[in-house]
Amino acid sequence: MLEVISVSKSYSGFKALSDLSFKVGRGSMYAFLGPNGAGKTTTIKVLTGILTPDSGDALINGVSIVNDPVRAKRNCGYLPDTPMLFEKLTGTQYLNFIMDIFEVHASERRGRIEKLIEAFELGPHINSLIESYSLGTKKKISMVAACCHRPPVLLLDEPTSGLDPQSVRAFKDILKAMTAEGVTVFFSTHILEVAEKICDRVAIIGGGRLVAEGSVDEIRRSLAGANREDNNSKTLEDIFLELTAKNGDRQEVCATA
Ligand SMILES: Nc1ncnc2c1ncn2[C@@H]1O[C@H](COP(=O)(O)OP(=O)(O)O)[C@@H](O)[C@H]1O
Ligand SMILES: [Mg+2]
Repeated sequence: MLEVISVSKSYSGFKALSDLSFKVGRGSMYAFLGPNGAGKTTTIKVLTGILTPDSGDALINGVSIVNDPVRAKRNCGYLPDTPMLFEKLTGTQYLNFIMDIFEVHASERRGRIEKLIEAFELGPHINSLIESYSLGTKKKISMVAACCHRPPVLLLDEPTSGLDPQSVRAFKDILKAMTAEGVTVFFSTHILEVAEKICDRVAIIGGGRLVAEGSVDEIRRSLAGANREDNNSKTLEDIFLELTAKNGDRQEVCATA
């Protein structure tokens, strides 16, 4: 599981995250939604230990990213919004390098990556230099790298952006299979349809503040000020646009679990 506890983060005086808190249960498929500049990437970078929060903490499978960062990082796999790879390595060399870092035993390596390579149809590329890969192929090899040490938590920043429909489908199928095995999947996305279809719960942020958290149904029900019948017909897109219309200025609407 994943717990974000009162996280605030500023960049040179600009407050990008304000007192952000939420919990993601084990085995959940959890979407993190917000308009451009809302603070999604900053949050994910705090969760991975790339950025240190000004205040607050995050527990990655119960381990504090602030107080015990190395152990917390062992518990998570991270897919950045833009792939960051060593382009002069082949896919195979890169995955072996990542599995060296995470101390995956040689006898287990093949089993860890074989299914993912097949699901993403990476076979024809895996022994070519990464510099020759398309953006989509780079995202896929990054995803295999994020999963290859079998972390209990996956932190994925815009995993489906820039992918063709077949690759989006492969991502969705792999993420579903992961959650079925108990992995906690936390991902940011702009594609509200993907979130609505495959997620158990969502968090919506605007202007660095949490504006809604819960299942889509819970958020729909708890929206203040509108009549029930009207809310029942709302899609996630309607809710998202309404809650983020003023870039997070709205009153907080948090559904109870
Ligand atoms: N390195 C940085 N320096 C200064 N401001 C930043 C930096 N990174 C992000 N920001 C600002 O913080 C806010 C949140 O950015 P980000 O977390 O990237 O949002 P999102 O991923 O939701 O689009 C934005 O206003 C962005 O301009
Ligand atoms: Mg971002």
